[in-house]
Amino acid sequence: MAQNQAKAERALQSNSQRLFEIADTALPGAGLGSYSLARDIRLIYSHGKGSRMWDVDGNEYIDYVGGAGALILGHSHPAVVKAAQEQIARGAHMFGSLNDVAVTLAERLVQDIPCAEKIAYATTGSEATAYAMRLARAYTGKEKILKFEGAYHGNHDYAIVSTFPKQTGDYPHGIADSFGQPAATTSTILIAPYNDLEAVEKIVNEHGRDIAAIIVEAVQRIIPARPEFLQGLRKICDQNDILLVIDEVVTGFRLSYGGAQTWYDVNPDLATYGKVVGAGGPLSCIAGRADIIDLCDPNYKGQDGYTYFNGTLHGNPVAAAATLAMLNELSKPGTYDHMNQYADDLCNESQAVLDRHSVPAIAQKTGSLWQILFMEKTPVNHADILASDQVAMRRLDTELMKQGQYVLPGVRRFVSAVNTDKDLEDTLKGLDTACRVFNKK
Ligand SMILES: Cc1ncc(COP(=O)(O)O)c(C=O)c1O
Repeated sequence: MAQNQAKAERALQSNSQRLFEIADTALPGAGLGSYSLARDIRLIYSHGKGSRMWDVDGNEYIDYVGGAGALILGHSHPAVVKAAQEQIARGAHMFGSLNDVAVTLAERLVQDIPCAEKIAYATTGSEATAYAMRLARAYTGKEKILKFEGAYHGNHDYAIVSTFPKQTGDYPHGIADSFGQPAATTSTILIAPYNDLEAVEKIVNEHGRDIAAIIVEAVQRIIPARPEFLQGLRKICDQNDILLVIDEVVTGFRLSYGGAQTWYDVNPDLATYGKVVGAGGPLSCIAGRADIIDLCDPNYKGQDGYTYFNGTLHGNPVAAAATLAMLNELSKPGTYDHMNQYADDLCNESQAVLDRHSVPAIAQKTGSLWQILFMEKTPVNHADILASDQVAMRRLDTELMKQGQYVLPGVRRFVSAVNTDKDLEDTLKGLDTACRVFNKK
């Protein structure tokens, strides 16, 4: 009897309610990673095509999350699907020895990444930044890494220091972002405020002889580097025997085909890639100077300086084939002009809607990265982000989700190469309604 009632109740539920009941029992917080959404906007997606996604109840969304930036060609781009399908049929995975596609992609990456004399494969962006730090330590014989407050370089223990601090200051001491982190991670990671060369110089003057590398995002979340900032870091690094690592996991092949290095005209010693490199699959890389990357040459295993690198999925041929297809599409004329123009129009016209409704926010963008922030002017560092009205930001973003836009509340978002005029029109209509609801509450 009770069983029949439970069955009848389940039949009345939507597909997403049914799946969330399962997710609630099987997954922590019924979520993925560190994202959990309020119950009334929890979504379970089933598929995507181009710039749109659908949930399991058939609702359609314009996708501005874009697989956290990996899907620069939108969902299921025919060239990427074809390349991945053909490669799965040839062999989904090969370990230990090279495969032909991984070699072809390596040649392409060395040719197209400005700082790349060589590349080394990894699997995720986090793995790439962890290896870059290890290589920098091995190369310089120094232990400490300087990172910036509020910068995200992935999920490993050396990356999650002062990434989400609730208070700024007390430089260069970092704050552990997670329980379970060894104390060694906070004592070897030094923290500076973003876009502040004077503060970096001060820390380097004091600790330079222990600093192996400065790692930096060229656009820190949504904060653009000041034009002179990256060049200034290059100079400080050169003067103090410190390596400059630009984390291009987001900006690589996105700000421009040459990534942040071309956009800002700066030459790092190492750069880390993921997301677009990987095409949404398990592949990332470290690119840069051959004399540094050669430290992981397996022929030197057991010798002085050899730096350990290994991973089951390194050079995965399906992700490599998909990435090659993606790079072919991205290098077609007009791709970046379209993306950047769409982001310009989107932000200019969104700003007009916000202003019309007297919503005190700015539509902030660099290239195809954008976000609506509740502040008056472009942020310069993490302190500016903390000083902004984040509750209001999340409230508006939540309304946008209810209006058919996939944005994660409070998180930076992406334009893709396949966004259309209709997307723009629907986005602005959704924003108009969201602002009206926002002002009523
Ligand atoms: C700048 C940056 N670096 C590293 C990472 C980590 O990449 P992954 O999530 O693939 O490990 C991310 C992920 O968002 C990122 O934005």
